[in-house]
Amino acid sequence: MITVRIPCSTSNIGPGFDTLGLALNRYLVLKAEPSTTTTVITVEGNGKDHIPADDTNLVYTSMRAFAQSVGRELPALELRVINGVPAYGGLGSSGAAIAGGVFLANELLETRCTQDEMLDVAVKIEGHPDNVSAALKGGFTINCFENGRLHCRSIKITAPLSVIACSPHFQLLTSQARRILPASVTLKEAVTNIENVASLVAAMMSGDVEALAYATRDCLHEQYRATLIPGYDDVKRAALEAGALSCNISGAGPTMFCFATSNQEAIGTAMSAAFAGHGLLSSLEIMAVENDGAVRI
Ligand code: HSE
Repeated sequence: MITVRIPCSTSNIGPGFDTLGLALNRYLVLKAEPSTTTTVITVEGNGKDHIPADDTNLVYTSMRAFAQSVGRELPALELRVINGVPAYGGLGSSGAAIAGGVFLANELLETRCTQDEMLDVAVKIEGHPDNVSAALKGGFTINCFENGRLHCRSIKITAPLSVIACSPHFQLLTSQARRILPASVTLKEAVTNIENVASLVAAMMSGDVEALAYATRDCLHEQYRATLIPGYDDVKRAALEAGALSCNISGAGPTMFCFATSNQEAIGTAMSAAFAGHGLLSSLEIMAVENDGAVRI
């Protein structure tokens, strides 16, 4: 039996649209062994009733895609998917499933691909590198394409940062949250994002957490996606008033997340109360950065 563990993640982190990822300490656990009969998939944990347990399962389709990419056949399997990733969107559940499937298939087939080779397969499936890179490599990932070739760095974070994520209970498709984005932005907006993302990377690398207050501002996607999240402005205001360093949409949403070094419970309670003021139930997670990516356990 092979068991692997893959962290969930937040992505974009404000200005780093499709570029920055951050692994967090909630996990997808996968267990697999070859079967002598047919493939059987079981799903447990968060959102289990909404995760397919057939050959459309994203872990399984990602395993098959990996096998195909290395010219191998995936054997019949017993596959257990144990999902500890918060189920409401924005915390890298699909990124963890894809990265996990690829990583698990590499272990099962003993193909010994490097992390970057696995990442290439995972990015082709997901379409963008931020969540899958955090899921595979852990830490704070910085992704850059050069003529279609991905360069990904993972920075290990030592600052005592908490990530408070509040997920309102409604479904927001990533495709819908991407469709709403404009095809072009002004030079001023582009420059603002460059300033902020550069400052954000410096802050994360140096542990200058106070800089997160300004370096997480974004002009490329949040203002558009905010219209899809009832209470966005109130949740952000409540979180900052309760002591958060920052408050952004996590990934494509609808989860919103804060960085903080204190008052974590009060910040979470304030975020939930603000969503409740807009008639929305929400789930709260107070997490830490996970510097390990996908691991065999
Ligand atoms: N970078 C992606 C987005 C993350 O914001 O659409 C969600 O998959």
